[in-house]
Amino acid sequence: MADVIALGANALELSADKAIKFADQLLDSYDSVFSAIVDDIAEKGYSIRPNVLASDIAPQLSERLQQISPSLFKPAGIGRESDQHRNRFVRTDDICWMKGDSDAERLWLKWCERLQTQLNRSLFLGLFSFESHFAHYAEGDFYKKHLDAFKGNTNRVLSVVLYLNPNWLPENGGELVLYDQQDSVITKLSPSFGTLVVFLSEDFPHEVLPAQRDRFSVAGWFRVNASSAGKVDPPR
Ligand code: OGA
Ligand code: MN
Repeated sequence: MADVIALGANALELSADKAIKFADQLLDSYDSVFSAIVDDIAEKGYSIRPNVLASDIAPQLSERLQQISPSLFKPAGIGRESDQHRNRFVRTDDICWMKGDSDAERLWLKWCERLQTQLNRSLFLGLFSFESHFAHYAEGDFYKKHLDAFKGNTNRVLSVVLYLNPNWLPENGGELVLYDQQDSVITKLSPSFGTLVVFLSEDFPHEVLPAQRDRFSVAGWFRVNASSAGKVDPPR
């Protein structure tokens, strides 16, 4: 009996090993994508990659999303602001912070960690940590034009958004509008399944136009360490 249990544990360990190896191989296969994103950021400060995560990470995150109870999605705040009325004037989406408690979330966080490593290696951005949440825009929900970070006021350096909406149509609205520093529209982007957007948080104002159907995404921010005077810098 003890032997059987030991064997069982061994088999489990083996499959966990295999799973890690599989995840590593998957991440390795993204090397050229990481390079392309790094090049885009170096050249213009943003990167738009349609379809890039559509065959593996996006489907896994979508499946995970379906397991999360809607009650865990809470009205989003703006920065450290707590005035709910003002918040709802600016944005009406609901969010659920990721804690990495599923394979899908861990894979996404690992993918972002790899991207972080490449960005630091090539562009010396000094990115130190990453935080990410699921977001749900119900019909009519929006997020008015904003910056994710204000110069000198935050430690969010780079924003990333991944869209999880199959078959998004033009009449479904909910586009991300990305502006340059002169407030000219750079692009208006449909939140289509597997599309990834990355941009410098302080440099690109952006907004989410009202969605005409449920709109799901994952958003995240790479941060620099703003710890000082022995005080640990808390995320968010
Ligand atoms: C955000 C944001 C954009 C999007 O969460 O800060 O701007 O397209 N999201 O969901
Ligand atoms: Mn934003």
